[in-house]
Amino acid sequence: MVEPRVYQALAQPVVGHLDPYFFEVVGEVRRLLRVAFGTANEFTLAISGTGSSGMETAIGNFVEPDSKFAVFANGYFCDRLTEMGKRQGAQVVRLEKPWGETFTYEEAAEFLKRERPQTAAFVHAETSTGALQDPAAICKAAREVDALIIADTVTSLGGVPVNVDQHGIDVAYSCTQKGLSCPPGLAPFTASPRALERLNARKTAVREWYLDLKLLMEYYDGRKYHHTASSTLFYGLCEGLRLIEEEGLEKRFERHVKNHHALVRGLGQLGLEMHVAEGRRIPTLNTPRLPQGADDVKIRKHLLDRHGIEIAGGFGPLAGRILRIGLMGPLSTESCVQMFLGALQEAIDR
Ligand SMILES: Cc1ncc(COP(=O)(O)O)c(C=O)c1O
Repeated sequence: MVEPRVYQALAQPVVGHLDPYFFEVVGEVRRLLRVAFGTANEFTLAISGTGSSGMETAIGNFVEPDSKFAVFANGYFCDRLTEMGKRQGAQVVRLEKPWGETFTYEEAAEFLKRERPQTAAFVHAETSTGALQDPAAICKAAREVDALIIADTVTSLGGVPVNVDQHGIDVAYSCTQKGLSCPPGLAPFTASPRALERLNARKTAVREWYLDLKLLMEYYDGRKYHHTASSTLFYGLCEGLRLIEEEGLEKRFERHVKNHHALVRGLGQLGLEMHVAEGRRIPTLNTPRLPQGADDVKIRKHLLDRHGIEIAGGFGPLAGRILRIGLMGPLSTESCVQMFLGALQEAIDR
């Protein structure tokens, strides 16, 4: 759900992409994104495009042709990372786990010591499964072999702690339409000084002109035209981030966890088991297994038609086996949880 105050911000007058006021808003967005990411990285900004543009920026700038790129693969978005790495001409190696599981430090260390990649990537909150990866496990292993580490925080930013600096994540990207409660269209992005050193040492030009970080730096720092960024989307993101700052990150995370627990308890009372083991679940994206004989398409249609509630089903190996229930931002409240559980009970009974 988009925050009502974000809708108001989106209605403000459009200014040009080189207008001093635009850069004022960009400056505030960059400051607030540092808070949300938990980083002091100077190079923190929002890329024009959805979460996938953030992913492509990370791969396009930090995975060079002919280099080795390691992917921790336990869901759909790891496959997208793999595909983008291949398209850069990198040698992609994968450590595979079933959808819904996560990686330990020992597993990550063994894999990375064996493969010695220049860059490695993982998905912090895997939207296709509901599993939350502990960044510390992978980042520690990556440091030991001097691999640059990319984290997909598309479903985690603003919803659960990301703590870029504390974990030593080099590059992280996200989206605006999930934990930040804004419309889609921008991809928050941050890169550490170590990542920028690597970028400066590249032997080949970045293939994606539009997503070339050095050119983007000349735009956002040097105020030199690169592309016509949307002031509207920046107004919306700025307001969404202000709301998060006002609530306080810690309080927001606690609220998400509290309502997640209430939802999981209620699902248990309906006889639904969670797909992901306790302690590794994303509080903002809940994935119960479907009861025996239940048809997820019919359940979701009933929820949408009768109650105006949209949830998602599983796909890939989890097609027809789980539901994916977003509980984030303004929707993460006790009353929403109770209303949803009542509607779900009715849908399952039908
Ligand atoms: C974990 C993850 N990565 C990347 C993406 C791609 O983001 P977008 O659809 O905004 O391009 C998504 C989208 O849901 C996602 O969940």
